[in-house]
Amino acid sequence: MFARTLSVLSFFYCFYYLYGLDCPSDRTTAEHAEAQLHNDLFCAYDYSYRPVKDHRSAVNISVRFAIKYISFDPLEETFSVHSWVAMKWKDEFLSWDPTKYANITEMQVESHLLWTPKMSLFNADASLYQSEDIYTTCLLDSNGTVTCVPHVPHSGICRTSLKYWPYDKQNCTLFFGSWMHTGEQVNFTFFKSRPVILDDYLNGPGWKLLTVVPERLPGHYKCCPNVTYPMLKYVFTLKRESAGPAAIVVVPSVVIVIITTISLLLDVKDVSRLALQCFSLFGHFIFLTEIGYDIPKHSADTPIILLFIRDSMIMCLVSILMTLLLSSLRKRLEPAPMWMVSITRLVTSGPGKYVVFTEFDASDTSDKKTLTENDVNEDSSRKTSEWIMFANIVNSVVFIIFVLVYVILLCVYIPKDS
Ligand SMILES: *[C@@H]1O[C@H](CO)[C@@H](O)[C@H](O)[C@H]1NC(C)=O
Ligand SMILES: *[C@@H]1O[C@H](CO)[C@@H](O)[C@H](O)[C@H]1NC(C)=O
Ligand SMILES: *[C@@H]1O[C@H](CO)[C@@H](O)[C@H](O)[C@H]1NC(C)=O
Ligand SMILES: *[C@@H]1O[C@H](CO)[C@@H](O)[C@H](O)[C@H]1NC(C)=O
Ligand SMILES: *[C@@H]1O[C@H](CO)[C@@H](O)[C@H](O)[C@H]1NC(C)=O
Ligand SMILES: *[C@@H]1O[C@H](CO)[C@@H](O)[C@H](O)[C@H]1NC(C)=O
Repeated sequence: MFARTLSVLSFFYCFYYLYGLDCPSDRTTAEHAEAQLHNDLFCAYDYSYRPVKDHRSAVNISVRFAIKYISFDPLEETFSVHSWVAMKWKDEFLSWDPTKYANITEMQVESHLLWTPKMSLFNADASLYQSEDIYTTCLLDSNGTVTCVPHVPHSGICRTSLKYWPYDKQNCTLFFGSWMHTGEQVNFTFFKSRPVILDDYLNGPGWKLLTVVPERLPGHYKCCPNVTYPMLKYVFTLKRESAGPAAIVVVPSVVIVIITTISLLLDVKDVSRLALQCFSLFGHFIFLTEIGYDIPKHSADTPIILLFIRDSMIMCLVSILMTLLLSSLRKRLEPAPMWMVSITRLVTSGPGKYVVFTEFDASDTSDKKTLTENDVNEDSSRKTSEWIMFANIVNSVVFIIFVLVYVILLCVYIPKDS
């Protein structure tokens, strides 16, 4: 049984060998010059080692980025650059004499047939798979010059600083180089003219590209005096498109400041004073929540607009407490203490009286009972007006302090569009 199976197998093997491997004779045609050239170039070519005849010489690779598109991930930790990366080097095994091949001076070759440089992104986002191999069609020149222009996305880690959010600028850097080869083996350099091209650049969502600065780091390290590890560094400067966030956050927070300040000019007796202040405090909570949603939370430093709203919220609370305190002061009926009377006299008699601009209505104190008492008792009315005068002074001083503090806060904490 076994022998029979074996003989059947060997029969099929012979059949395959005799008829399967060779092309039918009517299929073989005379090869044209390009096919001939391709066969002659690649019959002994091996893409797994560097294309230099002397192993001590370097493969010089010129790199040019034509940047198409840049985007940030929602957390703003990783930024992606989509570009056409032109790479040019000389393959010493792939040159030919054009006169021998019908004057063919150029040929297109698939990149997987060739040795290609593996350009690694050193600060790559490792959670995204990024191949260092290129898959494209390359152009081969008769003098051995290979030019490949793959379309590659690169995602790099970028440490963002949101201090001046939403008017912030970010510097994001990409470092490229060979992972394992030294600069004496594979030497990455820039094209001599225009190493970065922005002609076809399209601004990504929410960001505007200001500049791209390329720089070649020679890569001399103390450990290895005889070899270098060169790197290509690209610094991208991006500016946030801030009109949207500014409308949502910056302008309303200024509005809230104005409401809080204006409310201090109202009479303590007036219910709308307390209502405005409570509305303003509520607005602060709303904005903190809103900004909490908008701001990427992994920034190195706190956005100053958050500090502004925090401080403004405290001010708003102080204004509410002030209102409660002053309205309790103006209801007092007992005689004002001596120190209060002397302060009031001092302020109202001197130039200080021009500073006291709020005038609370003394005519009707909170409830009717005291009103009738006031009518009857002039002395009590005088006592009450001492309290009201004092409340006026305190309120004016608080107003001036609020204006000063807010001016300082606005100058220091509200980010400006530069
Ligand atoms: C690479 O560049 C260096 C310096 O520019 C040069 O000496 C060397 O011959 C070049 N190597 C090749 C293979 O062209
Ligand atoms: C190649 O170019 C040379 C010079 O231009 C010309 O004399 C020759 O006929 C060309 N050969 C072919 C096959 O076209
Ligand atoms: C090879 O040919 C290309 C195109 O003809 C030319 O630009 C390049 O300078 C040549 N390179 C060398 C090393 O001769
Ligand atoms: C970005 O880099 C430029 C030039 O090196 C520097 O002046 C600027 O302060 C940097 N900006 C940030 C946000 O780091
Ligand atoms: C690599 O290229 C740079 C820039 O062209 C050159 O200065 C350097 O000598 C080259 N290094 C080697 C080892 O060829
Ligand atoms: C570097 O090269 C020098 C001179 O060729 C040699 O004496 C030295 O040992 C080398 N150093 C290393 C770390 O290879």
